[in-house]
Amino acid sequence: MDISITKTSCPKEKPDSSTLGFGKIFTDHMFVMDYSREKGWHDARIVPFGNISIHPASTVLHYGSEIFEGLKAYRRADGVVQLFRPMENIRRMNASAERLCLPQIDENEAMHILKTFVSLEQDWTPSAPGTSLYLRPFMFGNDESLGVHAVHNARFMIIASPVGSYYPEGINPVKIMIEDKDVRAVRGGTGYAKCGGNYAASNRAGERAEQKGYTQVLWLDGVERRYIEEVGAMNVMFKINGEIVTPALTGSILPGITRKSCIELLKSEGYTVNERLLSIDELEAALKDGSLEEAWGCGTAAVVSPIGELAYKDEVFTVGGGKIGPVTQHLYDTLTGIQWGRIEDKFGWTETLD
Ligand code: PLP
Ligand code: COI
Repeated sequence: MDISITKTSCPKEKPDSSTLGFGKIFTDHMFVMDYSREKGWHDARIVPFGNISIHPASTVLHYGSEIFEGLKAYRRADGVVQLFRPMENIRRMNASAERLCLPQIDENEAMHILKTFVSLEQDWTPSAPGTSLYLRPFMFGNDESLGVHAVHNARFMIIASPVGSYYPEGINPVKIMIEDKDVRAVRGGTGYAKCGGNYAASNRAGERAEQKGYTQVLWLDGVERRYIEEVGAMNVMFKINGEIVTPALTGSILPGITRKSCIELLKSEGYTVNERLLSIDELEAALKDGSLEEAWGCGTAAVVSPIGELAYKDEVFTVGGGKIGPVTQHLYDTLTGIQWGRIEDKFGWTETLD
């Protein structure tokens, strides 16, 4: 695939690493490629970062035909920039596209695009501890008509943002509210796809949680409001009585790449990890009798994030004395160690750009 490159004539100044936050600053360029049923994917181009123009009837603006991915480029101590399991993101993007009736992108071409784009923008990968270059590939339906049907035209783009930690808490424990009214997704719906609509639907509960001083909500299943699913922007794991438990992928949960990595890592070290249904009753009992030893969330943006407090209905429970637990700390140290190249990558998860 040929990618045309138009470089910006006025490169921006790189930001001070201490001011990064998450997703507020963008690099100099972006990748754009269009799709039509007649031509397939065409006009692959890297252009200066800027606003885009779309037709007011564009499908995405009316019917929410949109999917996205999130992955990071990390700068190692030797200066080399590497990606973490990028093929997993590409495969999940195609699975999301299939669910939303958006077109597939050949895996190898998607990898070529990603690496070409990141190579061009790699100077934007910060080097301060805990910082990285967040990559946001996304695709949207772009028909210029109002009929409701699988689209004939789409656009795929990648933008990039140098980031620090997602939560202001950093590695300090977050407070999570268990949501018992709104639901995020149902089986048969789009829960397993990374589509914008899932996030739009979750904002009302997220807003209520924030007003009460919580960072995000923990979702229960959409049918019985009984089984634990995931948190707003991360999967969730618990250590109960020595057993590490994470909700099974039942179709309404995002199959997180950090979740998968945590499971593979822990299993390789001899831990028992069970992917199973975990009811709120079981969790509540474990919170009350003290058998819930640790709880943490995991995701690309959130990394590994200890949960220090859980609220359910009118009760507030402290988890692990409100401090990060040993398994959570170990996962954080090992995963970030591999991602930033401080620890040998025995799993072959990291990839350089060539
Ligand atoms: N669950 C949701 C709803 C998310 O938005 C994310 C973030 O991408 C995750 C889980 C974690 O997925 P991953 O580890 O692939 O980033
Ligand atoms: C990610 O972790 O990459 C996410 O997409 C989470 C969030 C910012 C939506």
